[in-house]
Amino acid sequence: MTDDVLLVHGGTPIEGEIRVRGAKNLVPKAMVAALLGSAPSRLRNVPEIRDVRVVRGLLQLHGVTVRSGEEPGELVLDPSHVESANVADIDAHAGSSRIPILFCGPLLHRLGHAFIPGLGGCDIGGRPVDFHFDVLRQFGATIEKRADGQYLTAPQRLRGCRIRLPYPSVGSTEQVLLTAVLAEGVTELTNAAVEPEIEDLICVLQKMGAIISLDTDRTIRITGVDQLGGYTHRALPDRLEAASWASAALATKGSVYVRGASQREMLTFLNVYRKVGGAFEVDETGIRFWHPGGPLNAIALETDVHPGFQTDWQQPLVVALTQASGLSIVHETVYESRLGFTSALNQMGAHIQLYRECLGGTPCRFGQRNFLHSAVVSGPTTLQGGDLVIPDLRGGFSYLIAALAAHGTSRVHGIELINRGYENFLQKLEELGAKVERP
Ligand code: EPU
Repeated sequence: MTDDVLLVHGGTPIEGEIRVRGAKNLVPKAMVAALLGSAPSRLRNVPEIRDVRVVRGLLQLHGVTVRSGEEPGELVLDPSHVESANVADIDAHAGSSRIPILFCGPLLHRLGHAFIPGLGGCDIGGRPVDFHFDVLRQFGATIEKRADGQYLTAPQRLRGCRIRLPYPSVGSTEQVLLTAVLAEGVTELTNAAVEPEIEDLICVLQKMGAIISLDTDRTIRITGVDQLGGYTHRALPDRLEAASWASAALATKGSVYVRGASQREMLTFLNVYRKVGGAFEVDETGIRFWHPGGPLNAIALETDVHPGFQTDWQQPLVVALTQASGLSIVHETVYESRLGFTSALNQMGAHIQLYRECLGGTPCRFGQRNFLHSAVVSGPTTLQGGDLVIPDLRGGFSYLIAALAAHGTSRVHGIELINRGYENFLQKLEELGAKVERP
């Protein structure tokens, strides 16, 4: 389908300024949180991306009115008339998003029942949801699996509990937060994820009237309350999108000012960027990222949960590492198959070898399980344009970066997937002087 194809004429540095808005990994969750309130909420800095449209549709199916507010990017969500939705409609709207699972807690509180269809999301590993259902059972929900999805009920008010996550999963931590705030009594969550987007969700919930404390040892304590109100909140900026453009600037020898990027949530990325040889300058409204000239440095990199190096930063940066001198080592410890995208880079001329062993300081969950989750990138290599089929969101953006850095023209198929998480990326590419066209 040519609609979904982009021709990228590579070899020109990208230069200029773009703006990032609210984080893809916070905004849809803050929208779900509005379901818990007894009054309307106002969410600001909302990007126009597909995950937001999916959640908006699902909220509307459940009787929440969602309209644009006064300022651009503002949504007003009114949950005064929450109602049950038709199972087939939920299934049709959920699309390929994984956010619907976070509707469980709020719907169990509001309606006493919830339905979750089969879930999608990027194909970067098995992406199970076992932790989510275990957590919901501990709160007292009953779950029945049928052919079309999972049917959940709360025979009585959900009760706070003590939960220890087997791994600090972002989604499962959010599941606990969104369920515990209205549950009876105290919930103690240990081994929680503490990503900045989770802290921002905690801020949203606290504004609504929740009582939540976050300790330095990954423990979150939530004291359930009987009722929550609405919130007014400006979503934190998308640190993952900001890092993607930063990597694009480095790989193409360009310079990009990312308006809206925030240093605080990017400390770990910025350290690594500097070690690779990238330059950046932070000011009050954003961060400028550029290639300062000269060779880039090979590095050893290990992805991890926050405050480690975020897995979503890995794929775009690997493209830049193909331009660094020497051997870079990448150990992906969050998803078992988030390195598959490198085979297309090799076809373009990169030298990336994948390993099943843990090539990092810390053995991870995947070392014994035969997953190709470590990589050695040997550079610098000259990339040539190619025919690329986008595998997942971040891998897709990485292919765009590779195509921009390469000599010649690339045909990139499946660019629709990038709309899931990158607002107006085509327009942004054009504003940065990239030579792209729809065939
Ligand atoms: N996991 C389980 N069982 C579960 C849940 C998770 O085994 O029930 C495992 C996963 O398979 C994975 C690990 O735990 O190996 C971490 O998964 P996590 O739950 O943290 O991921 P998520 O909540 O599904 C969010 C983001 C991802 C981001 C990760 C890690 C959203 C919508 N997605 O996913 O974002 O990579 O956290 O920070 O917030 C992206 O933006 O491209 C993206 C994939």
